[in-house]
Amino acid sequence: MDENNQESWLETPDPQLFINNAAKFNDLMMMYRCAIREIRTKLEVLDDEFSVEYKRNPISFIKTRIKKPESIYRKLTKLGYEFTAENIQQQLHDVAGVRVVCAFVDDIYTVADLLAGQDDITVIEVRDYIKNPKPNGYRSYHMIVDIPVFFSKGKTPMRAEIQIRTIGMDFWATLEHQIRYKKGIEEMEGYDKISHELQCCATTVVDMDNEMLRIKNMIGQFHDI
Ligand code: GTP
Ligand code: MG
Repeated sequence: MDENNQESWLETPDPQLFINNAAKFNDLMMMYRCAIREIRTKLEVLDDEFSVEYKRNPISFIKTRIKKPESIYRKLTKLGYEFTAENIQQQLHDVAGVRVVCAFVDDIYTVADLLAGQDDITVIEVRDYIKNPKPNGYRSYHMIVDIPVFFSKGKTPMRAEIQIRTIGMDFWATLEHQIRYKKGIEEMEGYDKISHELQCCATTVVDMDNEMLRIKNMIGQFHDI
């Protein structure tokens, strides 16, 4: 306890160790931020090229995030690993997250294929929750990739999770996430009904995505989407 009667931040017996570890952690997070930048540039290049070639943009917007320290700690602990830089890099796939929101369902596969085809990207895992939606109705195309980033100390492969989805899928997932993360919702009376209604909304989004794609294909090539 300090003189203001607050708990010390340096609970560890060795403050220098704490400071060194914090510096190491910040360094690692910087590396993940750089990986995100590399992926964002690749996506923007593809979108730019596509807009010149086909006069439309397959990507509506890109959102990125770095996993928060508490979430990193919680996930490592859940998996039974210690909170070390090595374990973060080796055990977690989603410290760097990139969400790509596309106009149409077929754009998702175009973007995914073009990205996976680049020779510096290594695809570690693909989960196609569009062809195989989760039971609650969640849909998105997930890719875990390694991407090399060039630092002064040399080239380092960095891992990232890329989620590719339509505007409709993003709309559903964002609201579902907000509802699901409301504290104690699972114990709430009528939770089953809420889950069911969310599933119904997911079905509506599937129908809407399919209709939009059908209309786009009816019109053929067009401008400024
Ligand atoms: P996590 O431990 O959550 O990372 O799950 P996982 O390693 O089994 O991967 P999964 O592919 O299931 O999910 C990874 C990410 O996809 C999550 O962190 C969310 O961002 C998103 N996601 C997966 N399922 C859902 C869902 O049911 N609803 C919403 N809103 N997002 C989901
Ligand atoms: Mg995750």
